[in-house]
Amino acid sequence: MTDKKSNAMWGGRFAAGPDAIMEAINASIGYDKRLAFQDITGSRAHAAMLATQGIITDSDAEVIREGLLTVLSEIESGKFEFSTALEDIHMNVEARLKEIVGEPAGRLHTARSRNDQVATDFKLWTRDQMDAAIQGLEALIGALLDQAEAGADWVMPGFTHLQTAQPVTWGHHMMAYVEMLGRDVSRFKDARARMNENPLGSAALAGTGFPIDRHMTAEALGFDRPTANSLDAVADRDFALEFLSCASITAMHLSRFAEELVIWSSAQFRFVTLSDRFSTGSSIMPQKKNPDAAELIRAKVGRIMGAMVALFTVMKGLPLAYSKDMQEDKEQVFDAADNLMLALAAMTGMVSDMTANVDSLRAAAASGFSTATDLADWLVREAGLPFRDAHHVTGALVALAESKGCDLPDLSLDEMKAAHSAITDDVFTVLTVENSVASRTSYGGTAPVQVRAQIARWKEALK
Ligand code: ARG
Repeated sequence: MTDKKSNAMWGGRFAAGPDAIMEAINASIGYDKRLAFQDITGSRAHAAMLATQGIITDSDAEVIREGLLTVLSEIESGKFEFSTALEDIHMNVEARLKEIVGEPAGRLHTARSRNDQVATDFKLWTRDQMDAAIQGLEALIGALLDQAEAGADWVMPGFTHLQTAQPVTWGHHMMAYVEMLGRDVSRFKDARARMNENPLGSAALAGTGFPIDRHMTAEALGFDRPTANSLDAVADRDFALEFLSCASITAMHLSRFAEELVIWSSAQFRFVTLSDRFSTGSSIMPQKKNPDAAELIRAKVGRIMGAMVALFTVMKGLPLAYSKDMQEDKEQVFDAADNLMLALAAMTGMVSDMTANVDSLRAAAASGFSTATDLADWLVREAGLPFRDAHHVTGALVALAESKGCDLPDLSLDEMKAAHSAITDDVFTVLTVENSVASRTSYGGTAPVQVRAQIARWKEALK
């Protein structure tokens, strides 16, 4: 029991206010205050529509719309006093509006409910985050394109199983991430287009008997159209799940790249030098420069995917339409969005600042018999061997080089001929890493001419 007054917004049938613990579990204002701008924008559009439709007077609508701007400026300037007793952003705003403009404030909630209100607010917020993610991705793509262009013909080892496989170009490796992030952009755009329907006017769940114009509020709020089923509109959180799914895939991509940067920047690899701006030192080991930003980006996928799984788990099994469970959607999306934007910005900074160590890359590319496939291909092309036989002959030469502690190009022509009599001096032209990458001109291959063509295609697409 408590002696608190019953809630001013819905307390009509309540004799007493909530228990303190009830208030604590029920309130969302601690976090949904982040929806203030969207809440006020939605309410201003709603009030204008109510007046146009003759549901409230023009003068009431004007007073409400002006009053809401005052509330917004109080919130933005940090003067607003949020109240937990008022549960959420919707009731905090409306209660303050009442204090400012009096009686007309009570007319704002005509023909709507917090159910369609929160769906609208949250969609507007999530839509902005989709736009921000697209922007962040495009900035990172821009930084990768710069790296790719600078190093379109720098040779480095390409790996499978993290074992040296074949030489590739730095530009090619950078462009692999451009492709991934390009798909991420298209995923966010696709999700944005699908979610852009206006829930406002669905009211509590069944729609309303007032002659509202949902097309008008849709247009005012930048939605393509109103949602077509009021039950679905207030129960739907697909847009949040899609945001989290897209964010998870992006975070996974960033995590893979981050892992490569961690490996590449180690003393054992020395493929890249990360800038001081995105590294930290050790408090005990003076020689250390740690790739902390990369490590944290690598880790962010954990919480972002965690948010996705959390919200899927909240939503599964919920009967139509709204249930309070759905209030648990916001913190997940807020946290995932904040961390996604941070990871994108940090990765963009790291990529712009990092220096490829061209000599180390080349030395690594030339080691590990990375041109063995080129030798086998030469035997097929120039000596007419079936590929399986060529593979066998090459394998024998790799074993020989390994036993001598040298690389394939260091073997003598006589040693080559001993493995297969058809081998001529010409074979040495394909054993250098430069020739190896230059030969891979198939569409999408690692040859510098192919890489440059892809860079040009992306630059055109991003214009
Ligand atoms: N704070 C609530 C939420 O975030 C707003 C909707 C409340 N609706 C209701 N019927 N209690 O979900």
